[in-house]
Amino acid sequence: MNRKPVRKAIFPVGGMGTRFLPATKAMPKEMLPIIDRPLIQYAVEEAAAAGIEEFIFVTGRGKHAIEDHFDESVELNHLLSEQGKDDVLADIRGWMPKPGQVSYTRQMAPLGLGHAVWCARHLIGDEPFAVLLADDLVMSKTPCLKQMVDVYGETGGSVVAVMDVPREHTDRYGILDVNHDDGRLASVKGLVEKPAPADAPSTLSIIGRYILQPNVFRWLDRQEKGEGGEIQLTDAMASTLEDGPFHGMRFEGRRFDCGNKIGFVEATLAFALSRPEMAPAVREIIANLR
Ligand code: G1P
Repeated sequence: MNRKPVRKAIFPVGGMGTRFLPATKAMPKEMLPIIDRPLIQYAVEEAAAAGIEEFIFVTGRGKHAIEDHFDESVELNHLLSEQGKDDVLADIRGWMPKPGQVSYTRQMAPLGLGHAVWCARHLIGDEPFAVLLADDLVMSKTPCLKQMVDVYGETGGSVVAVMDVPREHTDRYGILDVNHDDGRLASVKGLVEKPAPADAPSTLSIIGRYILQPNVFRWLDRQEKGEGGEIQLTDAMASTLEDGPFHGMRFEGRRFDCGNKIGFVEATLAFALSRPEMAPAVREIIANLR
């Protein structure tokens, strides 16, 4: 079947990051580093590895550091090449989107994830697109969004990455109601944002990776408020269920919730242990801390 490819991705980065204050008082939370690269760079590299060609950031006040991060630093490039540090130079430039591939729009008011995505509607136009939440960091052999793009190639429609969570955590996530589940792919018949454990239709939770169709903007145009008084992406997705296939994909890999401190520390340790040049020293440090 001939499907429109997923070429564009939205990165909602307008959030205040209050959970990491005071670290995020003068710095965007998306710039917090796991080892030596900021969270947002992991998300952008993941998107690029999935074939994304246009990177759309929905920003807010005080997020200039993100724009600078995705720009050339002429002075730094010059200094590093004068010092012959070509490997470092390659590391800061190799992964960067090319000129014209990055665009920015502002959310202007913190009205929720659905609202952030809606702010990018004119940059998306009439084609499928991905959404990546940088707080959700996924360590996997095949990048999570690439796994989803491959599934989308088979199923079309919309695809969200999901994982099973303990029932007492359903009120932290968008939760799926499914009618067929083969253990990897679940076809979705309903979606609820942050239901109480007793009301949750399942424990299959959306993590911050989405492939969506532009019809989701029709509902977002109505600006209706949902859970927590915010315009919810989950509600907008639910309104598209009758328009075409909608699947939850259990991704291969491990997801870290870098939106909270424990998840952030866990991610730091896991990524350090995954780097051969660091792993032995980090193991020793951990052993000695007990
Ligand atoms: C958002 C979404 C939620 C999703 C979660 C994944 O919630 O609204 O549906 O499950 O991201 O991290 P937030 O974590 O922004 O409250």
